[in-house]
Amino acid sequence: MPNPMQLMWYINPLDGPVPWTPEGAFQPSLTRSREIAVQIDRDGYFGTLVVGKNPLVETATWASVTEQLRFLIPIYPGVIPVAFFAQQAQLFDSVSRGRLLINQVNGTDQLLTRFGVDVPSDERYDLSIEYWQAFKRLYAGDLEAFSGKFIKYGPAPGSRNTMAVPGLHLQDPHTPVWGSGTSPGGIRHAGAVLDVYLGYLHRPDRMRALMQSAHDAAASHGRTLKTGILCNIIVRDTEEEAWAHAQWVLEKTGVEKLINLVEGRLKTGRYQPHSGSREKQAFDTLRSDDPRQQSSIDALRAGRLPDVRALECHPNIWTGPNPWGAVDLLDQGWGGYFVGSAKNVAERMREIQETCGIDTFIMAGWPSKEEAKRVAEILMPLLDLRHDAPRLRQAA
Ligand SMILES: Cc1cc2nc3c(=O)[nH]c(=O)nc-3n(C[C@H](O)[C@H](O)[C@H](O)COP(=O)(O)O)c2cc1C
Repeated sequence: MPNPMQLMWYINPLDGPVPWTPEGAFQPSLTRSREIAVQIDRDGYFGTLVVGKNPLVETATWASVTEQLRFLIPIYPGVIPVAFFAQQAQLFDSVSRGRLLINQVNGTDQLLTRFGVDVPSDERYDLSIEYWQAFKRLYAGDLEAFSGKFIKYGPAPGSRNTMAVPGLHLQDPHTPVWGSGTSPGGIRHAGAVLDVYLGYLHRPDRMRALMQSAHDAAASHGRTLKTGILCNIIVRDTEEEAWAHAQWVLEKTGVEKLINLVEGRLKTGRYQPHSGSREKQAFDTLRSDDPRQQSSIDALRAGRLPDVRALECHPNIWTGPNPWGAVDLLDQGWGGYFVGSAKNVAERMREIQETCGIDTFIMAGWPSKEEAKRVAEILMPLLDLRHDAPRLRQAA
């Protein structure tokens, strides 16, 4: 009997059949995002990973039109003062009856300086450890002042937790803190503070090693954590239909855009597992010892599309273009797809769940509304899902 798993759906205002191209993107629409939230709640997804300009505010408006959907929303530590954010999380949990999940994001240097956090990426993980440890104390009702290396706040005014209003409910013990980060600092950080460690779908042997390193880091703190992966998905009734759509996605993206995506990703300063550094790199310098990977690089350099199946790094796992990860030419975890028939994708998910110990699958499809519906109709019935209700406690 397979183990139960959690299934979530990704909502991004950047939507459309090929949203990383101007022709394939819809006009961003708050109404559409909200409609998708209502639909996936009704269809039985555990939750949604949301991005956008201010998802904390946006998803607060979805709480009243959904019943059980959890909201996994990005929070950049240090941007919102932690004592204030703990109150926001408590209130969100109260009005949604415990449906907030935090996606802690280390972000990029460019984005964080915009918000006034001028701490380099690797050091931000130390800031983040301090932030989330403080958050958990504050959420639990700690009233004391704190002065750390990065964070400082005063004592609570009065003698009571400001959220201690009869009838309000909090999560027990606190809003769960999920998050990612593949650099050594990111793994160390996961071990110290994350409740759920997230990665991207990619080659199972590498995913397994990544997840194991997060478990080991947690064990070194006497902790345990759960794991999840963000996956694009093209699922159809047959393999042929699914791969035909993957081919269509490649064609609609085109060679020039594929190269732009890879170049953009290499310039972000994000940690690159293949080089073990944040060093920026040019597309022209990319090379691989793996003939299959090199064939895709060579094709792009020659101005041709890679063979659609040359981007299949493991059966039914495709490293095609997607909104956040470019084209994962070196299979290093920039973001991948499940591509295949519902039966084969369900089997592959179970295989990955078992070999990599994955608890949660966050799916993304394009366009989002139609693909979420399709996944609910043809894939969900083949999965053994476990969607526990939030654990609540009365605010005291
Ligand atoms: C499930 C998931 C969700 C993510 N969400 C965001 C996000 O909302 N914003 C963002 O800037 N990065 C996001 N990321 C990217 C990671 O935060 C990124 O890996 C990290 O900032 C870079 O860490 P590293 O350079 O230490 O590996 C996400 C990653 C994963 C796996």
